[in-house]
Formats: sequence, structure tokens, C-alpha cells
Amino acid sequence: MYDFGPYEKTYKEFNWDLAKEFLEYKEGDPLNIGWYCSDRICQQGKAQKIAMIWEGFDGEVRKYSFNDLRLLSNTYAHYLKGLGIKPGDRVCIFMDKIPDLYISFLGILKLGAIAQPLFSAFGEEALFTRMDDADSIAVITTRKHFRKVRRIKDQLPHLKHIIVVDDENVRLEEREKVFILDKAERVEDFNIYPTNPESPSVLHYTSGTTGKPKGALHVHASIFAQSLSSKWVLDLKDEDIYWCTADPGWVTGTSYGIIGPWSLGITQVVYCGGFGSEKWYKLMEKFRVSVWYTAPTAIRMLMKDGTDLVKQHDLSALRYMCSVGEPLNPEAVHWGIEAFDMPFYDTYWQTETGAIVITNFPGMKVKPGSMGRAFPGITAVVLDLKSYEVIREPNKVGLIALKPGWPSMMREYWNNPTVYQSKFINGWYITGDRSSIDSEGYFWFVGRDDDVINTAGHLVGPFEIESALIEHEAVAEAAAVGKPDPVNMEVVKAFVALKPGFEGSSDLELSIMNFIRKKLSPLAMPQEIEFVDKLPKTRSGKIMRRLLRAMEWGEEIGDTSTLEDD
Ligand code: WTA
Repeated sequence: MYDFGPYEKTYKEFNWDLAKEFLEYKEGDPLNIGWYCSDRICQQGKAQKIAMIWEGFDGEVRKYSFNDLRLLSNTYAHYLKGLGIKPGDRVCIFMDKIPDLYISFLGILKLGAIAQPLFSAFGEEALFTRMDDADSIAVITTRKHFRKVRRIKDQLPHLKHIIVVDDENVRLEEREKVFILDKAERVEDFNIYPTNPESPSVLHYTSGTTGKPKGALHVHASIFAQSLSSKWVLDLKDEDIYWCTADPGWVTGTSYGIIGPWSLGITQVVYCGGFGSEKWYKLMEKFRVSVWYTAPTAIRMLMKDGTDLVKQHDLSALRYMCSVGEPLNPEAVHWGIEAFDMPFYDTYWQTETGAIVITNFPGMKVKPGSMGRAFPGITAVVLDLKSYEVIREPNKVGLIALKPGWPSMMREYWNNPTVYQSKFINGWYITGDRSSIDSEGYFWFVGRDDDVINTAGHLVGPFEIESALIEHEAVAEAAAVGKPDPVNMEVVKAFVALKPGFEGSSDLELSIMNFIRKKLSPLAMPQEIEFVDKLPKTRSGKIMRRLLRAMEWGEEIGDTSTLEDD
């Protein structure tokens, strides 16, 4: 049998009831993530324990206890309820990583509404697509970002409330309001909505190859998987100071930057100051971070600044480091050992899976370059690329597939049953990633099975970029693909055919880049634009992105007729 370190026994005997026991959840009781992450921790005698140490861009530090979290999330819930927001309504959170983001998230859940986080760097078009699809009723935002919403609100008839939380002096227009948490009366008792395990909780949009981004809908039962994996994979213990570097605009920032750690009553650091090697080490030294969850792109950037910089800081509190979001290259694992005296533990999962599904455990032998093994309760296999049969021999590449049924699995794509159904074949959930499995059950990631671009650990959909590109006055046709990048793994490259009368130039390239940055986000902005006369197409007229991508990666293109069916 495999060696699962300290979890060997648990792994063999595992079933998801254990996760319910773990949170002392009794069948039939209400289950509300907002309550579990604040009120319950207070009831366990940890009301005064620090839940969040927040540091802002300019170095301001604020600390919130679990009792503060409880009262302030009540206050948010009470305010939103007063506006007429009801259970099941979608409430967007659109702001940088300020305390209001974390607190309002819990407040929305306490109300029984659905929290819909939106990455703060999204531009108007990216915002519109997601708010329109979800028929969002409200958006909680800040002075810095609310004008983007203002510019699209006329096209969003369902959007009733645009709430600015950090500036009393905004001149308000129709549907806009101000809510300042510090000035609001703290609400001691809020009647938390009795959501059950299957009540919807969080709606995260994620990009696919075709069509608009899809809203993966999660339910309150996700907490079972998020809590247990925070304990077993992130190894969180009561005395830990934990830092998750992810932004809650993406799933890691909610599953493991809010729900997982707080469901265990763990103190976490939230840093709103952006990336910087020196800044990050100083922060970890200052707050004595002991468990750190980050991403390969950040690790590669830290690597560039060298080991000496690490050694100049007292990081003696640090005892465990994990990574997620993109392939963690073996060099990064080795560098971790050299610089911090410990490896990065790779974890694999998706917006759709809600929690870690394939991973390295504490105590497990780390094989640099491998994502580790299936989490207890998860049946993970690889399927043949053509027949979808389970591959039983080791080291053969196939599609990573999971047996449905774990608690944090998405329950639907919002308003999109057809695409949701297409993710299941022969009773397996198809992740869209390729991997092999070695004879010891370790997964070795190969790449995605679709055209979605993973840049700096963030997924961007080529279709969304192409649709935005052709809105530029000069663009007739466009294709977006990922091209290799030493730090970000991939960056967006666009192939563009121009309309008659336009000529490719560096000015035009810049104009198109900025157009996309503003409309979508800096992540979606092409880092390079190649002007072409026409784009390669299949007989049915579909752009052959695969061919363009293969050229960027220097891969064998071979027989292009096979690309025609994709
Ligand atoms: C990729 C992020 C290699 C993968 C939590 C997956 C990874 C997509 C890893 C999900 C890993 C995530 N090694 N690739 N350890 N973790 N991925 O939905 O392609 O933003 O399908 O969720 O990121 O990205 P998402």
C-alpha cells in the first residue's frame, strides 16, 4: 500500500461523514459557513483570538478578533437585509483585499445570499459579463472601483444596489449608496438564515475554451472539504499564523483564504500590498508566519531575487509551505529546500472542485515535479484520451477525472446545464487537465486538455479575449493563445488580422493591448500581438488555435487534419 504518512489509517477508513463529525455537524441541523467561521469559533472560547491581521498598501496594520468577525459580519448581514436582499440573491464583492471584503463575504453568507467575488482588476466588460450572467442584485465596492460599475449599470437592470464602503463623500447617483462599517452600529444578534448543506453559498466565475465564463456554484456543505483539507493538507494548528497569498477574486482566496482557516479558528494574515520579495519576507518575519500557501509564479519571482535575501530575514517561525494554481517545477521545490530548509508541497484543484483534490500531505515523501496523490475521499484516475476508459498501467498520460460526490464539488454552472453536463462522461467528472500516475499513485501534471490560458496561476479564456479584440476598431479577426513565459508560465499572445485601411505598427499594438487591459484585466492583456494577413481555419471556418499554440511552444504540429475536429 502507499505511504500516507500520519494519515495512513484515516485514508483507508475515510468517508465524508468523518468530515461532518470533524465540524460536529449533526444531520438535519442548519449549516451556515458564516456562522461556522465566526460565531462557532467564539462559542469554542476563542472570541478574543485574532482572526485577521491585516496590512494595507501603506503599511497600516489592523487586527480583528473572532468576536469582531462575528459582530461585523452580523452588521453587514443586517445592513444588506435592510436593503431587501434575500436568501439566494447574488451579491458581488468587488474590491481590493481590504477587511470589508472578508467581513462582507461572511455577512452575505449569514443572510443566506450568494457571495459572488469579482477580481478587483477586472475591467468593465469582464465585470459586465459576470454580473449580467448571474443577474447580480448588489455589488459591494470601493471608491477606486465603483466607477467601472457606474459605467455599465444601465445595461444591468437587475442590479439594484451599488454600495461604496470606504468613502462617505462620493456624490451618489441613482442606485448607489454608502455604507461605512466602522461607523455602523455593531449588531450583537443577527438571526442567521438557516441554510442547509445544499443551500448555495459562493459563485465563482471561471473561464472555459469556448463561450462566456461560467459561474461554478458552490453550497454550504463545501466547508466539510475545505475545513478538513485545511487541517490535513495545509496542516493548520491552533497556534499557527497562516498566510494565503491568493486574492478572493479567485477560488483559492475564498476556499483557503477565508473558509478553511477560519472554520478551524486559525489566525491569518491578509496582505493588501501586492508582490515584492523584500516586502513579503519582511511581512512573514514581522507577523511570524508559520504556514504559507502561495503559487508557482510568486515562487519563481522570489527565486529570481535569490536565497541571500531570504537568509537576511528571521523566518524561524515558518514550518510549512504549500503551492497551488500551476505546475510547480522541480527547481522551485529544490529552491524551497535551499532557501527555507523545506520543500513547497504542491496541491492541485480547481474552481469547480472547491477544495484540494490531489495533493502532497505533511510527512509524505515529496517527489519534485509531482502534484502528489488523491485526497482522502477523492477517487482520482486518468482516462484514455479517446475511449475515456480508466488507464490502469502506470506512467501513461490521460485526462484527470474524479468520481463525483465530494462535498465541495460545484453543484451547477449558473444558468448553463448543457456545459455542466458536458463535464461528466461515463460517471466521471472530467477536469480538463492531463496527467500520468506513477506506480506509487503520484500524479504528474502534463498540461491542459483545452485552450484555456493559465497565466501566473490565473485562468483566462481565449474566447473572452478574442471577443474583446474584435471590438477594437482596427481588428477584423483574432486568436488568443498562451505562449511560454519563464515567470508566469504562460502569457497571452494574440494573432490579429486587421481591417482594410489599418496597418500593423507598434502604436497599434499598444493601443490594442491597452484596450484589452481596460476592458478585461491586466492578466488578459496580450503581451505580444502578431499581425497576420489571415488566421488558419478549419474547413468549417473555426480558427485553429491549437496550431498557433503549437507553433509558440515549438511543438510538432504533424498532421493538421487531426486538428480539424477540435
Ligand atoms: C491548474 C485554482 C498544475 C489546472 C485552484 C487546473 C494546476 C486549473 C495545479 C484550475 C497544480 C491548479 N499543478 N496545474 N498543482 N493547480 N492547476 O479554477 O490546469 O483557477 O485545472 O483553480 O489550474 O484553476 P482554477
